[in-house]
Amino acid sequence: TDTKPIPAPPGWPLVGNAFDFDTELPLRTFQNFAEQYGEIYRMHLPSGSPMVVSSHALVHELCDEKRFRKPVAGALAEIRNGVHDGLFTAREEEANWGIAHRILMPAFGPASIQGMFTEMHEIASQLALKWARHGEDTPIMVTDDFTRLTLDTLALCTMNFRFNSYYHDELHPFIAAMGDFLTESGARATRPSVMSVLYQQANRKYWEDIEVLRRTAQSVLDTRRKHPTGRKDLVSAMLEGVDPKTGQKLSDSSIIDNLITFLIAGHETTSGLLSFAFYLLIKHPEAYRKAQDEVDSVIGKGPIKVEHMNKLPYIAAVLRETLRLCPTIPVIARQAREDTVIGDGKYLIKKDERLVLLLAQSHLDPKVYGETAKDFVPERMLDDSFERLTKEFPDCWKPFGTGMRACIGRPFAWQEAVLVMAMLLQNFDFSLDDPTYELQYKQTLTTKPKNFHMRASLRDGLT
Ligand code: HEM
Repeated sequence: TDTKPIPAPPGWPLVGNAFDFDTELPLRTFQNFAEQYGEIYRMHLPSGSPMVVSSHALVHELCDEKRFRKPVAGALAEIRNGVHDGLFTAREEEANWGIAHRILMPAFGPASIQGMFTEMHEIASQLALKWARHGEDTPIMVTDDFTRLTLDTLALCTMNFRFNSYYHDELHPFIAAMGDFLTESGARATRPSVMSVLYQQANRKYWEDIEVLRRTAQSVLDTRRKHPTGRKDLVSAMLEGVDPKTGQKLSDSSIIDNLITFLIAGHETTSGLLSFAFYLLIKHPEAYRKAQDEVDSVIGKGPIKVEHMNKLPYIAAVLRETLRLCPTIPVIARQAREDTVIGDGKYLIKKDERLVLLLAQSHLDPKVYGETAKDFVPERMLDDSFERLTKEFPDCWKPFGTGMRACIGRPFAWQEAVLVMAMLLQNFDFSLDDPTYELQYKQTLTTKPKNFHMRASLRDGLT
């Protein structure tokens, strides 16, 4: 067959393109190469030679579960050192993935998530109270406070554990260890292995951090066993749940893997989403007004209730559009099951070869989103048009990943994000601390805004 060679940016012997990475923002390197080399190109890295794909058409093809699957390589393989075959880092063929997935799916289903509303509401109210006390003259470190919110929410709802992050300037040792572990996992993935001797101290710290994470999770488990509460949450689902297919239960070590996994996968992503959403709203006063009007007319001044959650279509559209422009997990990976050809016969992909799906770029494809692809237009994400769009262009919006390895925490994240947006818009008017601020990115494993500070002034009293 007449396949075409896949373009590749020139690299160096041994290290390939490893030093081409913008160390602060690897995503920018991927995007710059995409502008230069087009919808598919190959990079040479010490850990392999993945291809990077950025058009909707190719992303759609790679979402085909029959021909492609999720590989566990790069940063994921490093995270796996800490959480083994937990849901996020398991290989397809590993039995523990299926067992945990089947046991946990119901615990992440709509009914269970609605059952977490009261606790989500409590943590969100604490944030509103904190910002109200700050007063309108204090700059708010938006992303830091949203990260406190999402971590505390996750830990409380899923394992009845209180980090009480709002009350500390210093991060809880678990949180510090997790942050360092994630950053180091990313760094290890781009570092040539020949150089690992130069990083002995970092390596030692990395394994110590893993110990901190596992010890903390073990103590959550021990506490629950010693003081059974009758709570229905993820810990009880994992302790008691029986896999309907194999009849097996989860081992302690598997429960610990997954507890840490939820904290890893479920807090920065949602915190980044909320941060980007507020940035985009402030920069688009018309959309801001519509979102706030919706909250005022649907909820008014009273308490927010779980019934309101699916009655806020404009807020939902704002969140979808935010994840399109700023997907907080900006890339996912796929791997060919067999030799195959993609792109209408153009590109040969060999069995097991890895491809990076650059969602941050495929979400901007003008063939799908037209001339306004780079603009913030929540209207295109209102339920009806969103449905039409994703029907006409399947896989054009993939911030939660794809196929059987798509995000299990999506309903959790969604309820939390809708609730927090609604509560904050109901109670405050927001503005930029520095009116000239333009979006900058910070990337660890996820992306979030950098140096983004807001001011919050109370509209009336707190509701
Ligand atoms: C998987 C995004 C919130 C738990 C994923 C994947 C993406 C994603 C893209 C697929 C990763 C891959 O293909 O390698 C997001 C976004 C979120 C969010 C954008 C928030 C806006 C959450 C929350 C939780 C969570 C709140 C937990 C409570 C997980 C888990 C997986 C996963 C366990 C692995 C699923 C599997 O492979 O079986 N997420 N996520 N996520 N997410 Fe989320």
